[in-house]
Amino acid sequence: MPTPRLQADPTAPDRIRGRTALVTGAGSGIGAALVRALTAAGADVVAADLDEVAAARVAAAAPGPGTARAARLDVTDGAAVQALVDETAARSGRLDLLFNNAGITFGGETEDLTLAQWDAIIDVNVRGVVHGVAAAYPLMLRQARTTPADSTDGSDGWGGQIVNTASMGGLMAAGLITSYVATKHAVVGLSLALRSEAAAKGVGVTVVCPSAVETPILEKGHLGRFHGRDYYLKGQGVRRPLDPDVLAAQVLEAVRSDRAMLVTPRTARVIWRVGRWAPGFTQRASVRFVAKQRRLQARRAAS
Ligand SMILES: NC(=O)c1ccc[n+]([C@@H]2O[C@H](COP(=O)([O-])OP(=O)(O)OC[C@H]3O[C@@H](n4cnc5c(N)ncnc54)[C@H](O)[C@@H]3O)[C@@H](O)[C@H]2O)c1
Repeated sequence: MPTPRLQADPTAPDRIRGRTALVTGAGSGIGAALVRALTAAGADVVAADLDEVAAARVAAAAPGPGTARAARLDVTDGAAVQALVDETAARSGRLDLLFNNAGITFGGETEDLTLAQWDAIIDVNVRGVVHGVAAAYPLMLRQARTTPADSTDGSDGWGGQIVNTASMGGLMAAGLITSYVATKHAVVGLSLALRSEAAAKGVGVTVVCPSAVETPILEKGHLGRFHGRDYYLKGQGVRRPLDPDVLAAQVLEAVRSDRAMLVTPRTARVIWRVGRWAPGFTQRASVRFVAKQRRLQARRAAS
């Protein structure tokens, strides 16, 4: 993993300050932290969420010097995503940064997951990202073509950056969050493949793969006796989930240095590398992990 390149000159034009950004799932957790980090760094942000009230709260509290405005958006609605991307670009002249961040999860035994729940998680986590890419990528390609290579504002033929929030679940395959793992693997694959295609055309793609982050999602989507905090923390030996504001700062640094992947924190990077180096060992470890989780969750249910 390359060390993020730091901006040597804080007054130099960069890929956040003065840029226009759209963040989905901005009403809570990581999306809200991204909005705060972006406006603090001088970006003008559209904070979009299914929950318009939450998005408005986040936008109102976002620090300057940048600005934030809220929009209601259901990422499962492709036409609505296209309309918001078009409207944002029409208002600002450009859309520089798209954060496909909205996501949901289900945790528990896969036989307890209904087909409607499978559809819901695929619709939000996969189609939601696809809708963002389908709406913004052609626009960013046009922007790249019309931005002079010698532009003085730091754009240099840059059409924009697409940043997809996947997860460590997109790199490792641990059971009891099987539907989530399936969707996040799709997001990682989509992001890396698109990046290899988009690089020569002036558009950057970054995929974000954190392990547990302290957000409300840890308490959501529980099937049966599944408990997210036990799963993500006790079961994985994580003492404290990552602070979403710390993650958002890392994401912005990854955007500035056009990194392909942000795998964070360090323990996640170690686990990921072991998984790639020893897939058989890792698969057997996953079986033990699931057994341990079941015991943990049975104890919790009985207490
Ligand atoms: N928190 C973690 O531990 C963690 C770890 C890795 C990856 N992630 C990923 O980070 C992203 C953000 O999750 P979070 O932890 O901030 O969760 P969160 O539940 O706090 O926030 C998710 C936001 O997405 C919004 N949303 C849900 N469905 C939507 C839809 N159809 N259209 C628009 N908005 C919608 C929700 O209203 C909510 O505001 C997700 O993609 C999640 O999978 C989270």
